[in-house]
Amino acid sequence: MSNDIYYLNNGYPMPKIGLGVYKITDEEMEVAVHSALEAGYRAFDTAYFYGNEQALGQALRNADIDREDLFITSKLWNDYQGYDSTKAYFNKTLKNLDTDYLDLYLIHWPCEEDGLFIESYKAMEELYEEGKIRAIGVCNFEQHHLETLMNETKVTPAVNQIEVHPYFDQHELQEYCDDKDIAVTAWMPLMRNKGLLVHPTIVNIAKAYDKTPAQIVLRWHLAHNRLVIPKSKNPARIKENYNILDFNLELTDIAEIDSLNKDQRQGKNPNEVQIGTLQ
Ligand SMILES: NC(=O)c1ccc[n+]([C@@H]2O[C@H](COP(=O)([O-])OP(=O)(O)OC[C@H]3O[C@@H](n4cnc5c(N)ncnc54)[C@H](OP(=O)(O)O)[C@@H]3O)[C@@H](O)[C@H]2O)c1
Repeated sequence: MSNDIYYLNNGYPMPKIGLGVYKITDEEMEVAVHSALEAGYRAFDTAYFYGNEQALGQALRNADIDREDLFITSKLWNDYQGYDSTKAYFNKTLKNLDTDYLDLYLIHWPCEEDGLFIESYKAMEELYEEGKIRAIGVCNFEQHHLETLMNETKVTPAVNQIEVHPYFDQHELQEYCDDKDIAVTAWMPLMRNKGLLVHPTIVNIAKAYDKTPAQIVLRWHLAHNRLVIPKSKNPARIKENYNILDFNLELTDIAEIDSLNKDQRQGKNPNEVQIGTLQ
């Protein structure tokens, strides 16, 4: 078993490190994708909402790499939840990416008050059964959202993509997902480089391992059984973020990073996001 692959609950292999492409512009995409593929990435995380599915698809086509060697994730945007709409917007995503299947398709936010995530997921289950998606899952689902979903649907989500970083470690939700065999992918794994990477604890551990702060934080995520999708448009940082598989953190260092937790979310609270909240 390769140490860079996570086997999802249906056995489908997902690279543990992917390139997040939120905020990567169409002009930046070609260089970012080229640099990522050269560094060894095979997984790319986009969303209909990011408006860059077409640019990602084009850059991957230009790279001339076999589709089956890639792992492409996209997400159903809030405004398009609903049974028919999910199928329609899934097809738009396929068209944007110019591919005939997705490796992973996720509900972007639960938008619980709107009451559509179950029927959206049921549409995704059908697409999954038809072979148009290799694995299905969710983003930003808390335990109560997951329980509601799993009570009403058949396929256990393969992935829950949530905000996690050392200041917001989501340990209870992580434990719940581990218990249900739902893989946790960390979004904002580097806390968008807003203060975390200069924290003395992270900087000192980085010095001790002769690694960068970002590499230490990403390795800490992997140590907690998470996948990561750091975003960068910068070729050197793209490479740096991938080169984390040749070392392990000592348990004491993992515990020291764990101790930074403040239960401090940086992004939106999933219970406050409804259809139309985010534009
Ligand atoms: N499901 C969801 O609701 C959701 C929400 C948000 C994000 N996401 C996904 O998660 C991905 C990652 O999250 P994110 O983009 O919010 O935050 P992030 O990956 O934590 O941080 C990205 C920021 O950190 C910088 N950076 C990257 N590597 C660095 C390094 N080695 N050293 C220093 N700075 C570095 C980047 O700048 P440069 O680009 O200039 O290098 C960028 O400003 C997104 O791209 C998206 O795919 C999902």
